[in-house]
Amino acid sequence: MSNKIVLLPGDGIGAEVIYAAKDILEAISKKYNKTFEFSSYDIGGVAIDNHGTPLPNETVEACKSSDAVLLGAVGGPKWDNNPSDLRPERGLLGIRKALDLYANLRPVKGFKKLLHASPLKEDIIQGSDLLIVRELTGGLYFGQPSERLDSGNAVVDTLAYTRREMERIIDKAFQSAQLRNKHLTSVDKANVLESSKLWREIVEAKKAEYPDVTVDHVLVDAAAMKLITNPTQFDVIVTENMFGDILSDEASVLTGSLGMLPSASLAEDGVGLYEPAHGSAPDIAGKGIANPIAMILSAAMMLRYSFDMNEEAQAIEDAVEVVVNQNYHTADLKNDNGKVVNTTEMTQLIVNAIQ
Ligand code: NAD
Ligand code: IPM
Ligand code: MN
Repeated sequence: MSNKIVLLPGDGIGAEVIYAAKDILEAISKKYNKTFEFSSYDIGGVAIDNHGTPLPNETVEACKSSDAVLLGAVGGPKWDNNPSDLRPERGLLGIRKALDLYANLRPVKGFKKLLHASPLKEDIIQGSDLLIVRELTGGLYFGQPSERLDSGNAVVDTLAYTRREMERIIDKAFQSAQLRNKHLTSVDKANVLESSKLWREIVEAKKAEYPDVTVDHVLVDAAAMKLITNPTQFDVIVTENMFGDILSDEASVLTGSLGMLPSASLAEDGVGLYEPAHGSAPDIAGKGIANPIAMILSAAMMLRYSFDMNEEAQAIEDAVEVVVNQNYHTADLKNDNGKVVNTTEMTQLIVNAIQ
């Protein structure tokens, strides 16, 4: 069976790390005798330059008729002053909406060998292993109206959710907790926001359907603090779109670098999209030094969730661990006694470990 994968490299280091993931998948294809069929489409800034829109129709159509999508990253200073509908980020939000990718799973698990690469104390992060389940197609990112009023002297953004949108992500989080350590932390701002009050009611009501899962509620400001002072208290965290965006970048500090954090963006049924949590990193783009591990681990998530290739996914994760244990790392990780390699070298080391 052929597995049709659409590559959306995007901008900056997105285009650098996506070819690293492709090399890894080709190594998997050889070793395990699997066929992957790749095609590439434009999204983000490069799509604005080539097609006049951050999300061309042909990109959406190609994704819809694929078996899975891998996305690098979008954005960059070149397009930062564009009007809102001509920003690269609109392309990313657009494809998430078009594929109804409501569930963004961001696992945060550091490697033992890199404990000291985090600015946090080793005894605090030791043993931390959590999953952020971020709602991805609602909330402030999509609510209308979102505009300037009063000749530019006032603004409005809208935080809107339907009950159904909250229920499906909360269900996903309960189910994810059942597959892990059966502890769910719901993060909200129920002391202030109406949306969070409904969110909390739904979590409370759903407890009865998942009696094996223990649940607690933490306000988002306290959650931000607890993530870096006592991260081992968390198993699965579920939260709305923007809180999840912010907390997941913060949580990446547990692993030593944002360049280590993969993610899966899933629909109820339909095509999944796999993307690192990081952005296009304009500060290092073009230098060939980006950490490809977040992207490579996202490809492993793709094999697991979209293709049911658990052994192959595990082979990628094991290969990454082998290379990390050999003390190789890219420059984003602060590791004084390690060996610094660039994107291509890191990718080749992981390919070798797979073979
Ligand atoms: P960023 O994630 O691109 O970078 C933040 C910092 O982390 C930078 O110092 C960067 O060099 C470093 N970093 C990130 N990924 C790395 C990697 N793989 N290897 C080594 N270092 C890495 O966030 P930013 O600088 O705030 O945003 C830059 C652009 O990216 C903006 O246009 C933003 O909108 C966009 N962005 C896109 C996505 C996405 O496409 N999913 C996600 C976040 C930000
Ligand atoms: C992410 C990014 C995006 C988000 C931006 C680029 C729209 O930060 O994937 O985490 O906020 O969702
Ligand atoms: Mn983000």
